Formats: sequence, C-alpha cells, structure tokens
Amino acid sequence: MEKHHVEVLLTEEQVDTRIQEIGEAISRDYAGKEVHLVCVLKGGTFFTCELAKRISVPVTLDFMSVSSYGSDTKSSGVVKIVKDLDESLTGKDVIVVEDIVDSGRTLSYLLAMLQDRGPKSLRLCTLLDKPDRRVVDVNVNYTGFQIPDEFVVGYGLDYDQRYRNLPYIGIVAFD
Ligand code: IMP
Ligand code: MG
Repeated sequence: MEKHHVEVLLTEEQVDTRIQEIGEAISRDYAGKEVHLVCVLKGGTFFTCELAKRISVPVTLDFMSVSSYGSDTKSSGVVKIVKDLDESLTGKDVIVVEDIVDSGRTLSYLLAMLQDRGPKSLRLCTLLDKPDRRVVDVNVNYTGFQIPDEFVVGYGLDYDQRYRNLPYIGIVAFD
C-alpha cells in the first residue's frame, strides 16, 4: 500500500446532520407507505444503517453485493451479482442505498436490472456524488453531499478494504 494519509473532508457531525435530513425527507415523501431499502454491499452498509434509524415510516431491508467486470479503478459497467437479494421487489417502494456515485456505470446497470423485477417505485439514495466523474447518466433522488473528484474513504468507503469504519469522510492524500 502506497504511503498516504487521510484528511478530513466531512466531519462526523456534518455527515450525521445530513443523514438526519435525508431520513426526514424520505419519511415525508413516503408518508403512509412502507420503504424497502436495498443496501449495496459493502460500501452502503454504514449509511444504510444510520439512515434506516432515522426513517419514521415502516422500513424493511435487503442486501445485495455486486462487482463490476474490469479493473478496480475503471468499472466497465457490466455488473456481476455476487450476492443477490433475499426477497422479491414486486410491488414494493424500493430505495437503493449506495455509498457513492462515481462514473454512474454500476448504478445505471443495477437500477435497470432492479426495475425489471417489478417494484412499485424505485429510487436511488447516495451518501456521496462525484458529478465531475459522471460518464453514464443516473437519476439520483437523494444525495448526501456532492464532492470534488478526490478519492475518499470512511463511512463504508474503502481504500484496499481499509478505512470503512471511519466515522467521517476523508480524502486519501499520497505522501
Ligand atoms: P461507478 O459509479 O460505477 O464508477 O462506481 C462506483 C463505485 O466505485 C462505488 O460503489 C465505490 O465502490 C467505488 N468508488 C468510486 N469512487 C470512490 C472513492 O472515492 N472511494 C472509494 N470507492 C470509490
Ligand atoms: Mg459501492
């Protein structure tokens, strides 16, 4: 692993405050309904748990794990399901919860695939968005923060599987 350090981009308090706001927005938008959260492993886990705690309408949860074919740094957009959902999406109000939308390749593929499973509605919620990096158009319904084109870690995001447990979002700076 290259020599590096992590610089704080978004503090734990900033992230917590924003997740609270998104939780309230979802609770308003889905008043009288039940929300089915689909967490994309592993990066989406921390955000999904914190978000779910702040949603006041009934919530159900499911998890899926995908990997994109091609090199780690440049996703090809063809997504392989590593672990599929346990439950059907048919007739459910589904929100896919992701850590970050980068090129948009993974999400556009994943959303099209999930749409085919007949949910009543399908929305996307991401903690972070790097709009400068977008290659494929993705409609994001709930965004935590738009961030610059930097490699970030924490709150589920990793650098070689490390730093997922940081309670804040940090930029990886190479020394
Ligand atoms: P894309 O939108 O298809 O390019 O891929 C997004 C995926 O790449 C995310 O789900 C992350 O797993 C990973 N990724 C993108 N940017 C970062 C970053 O800054 N830090 C850590 N992982 C990232
Ligand atoms: Mg991810």
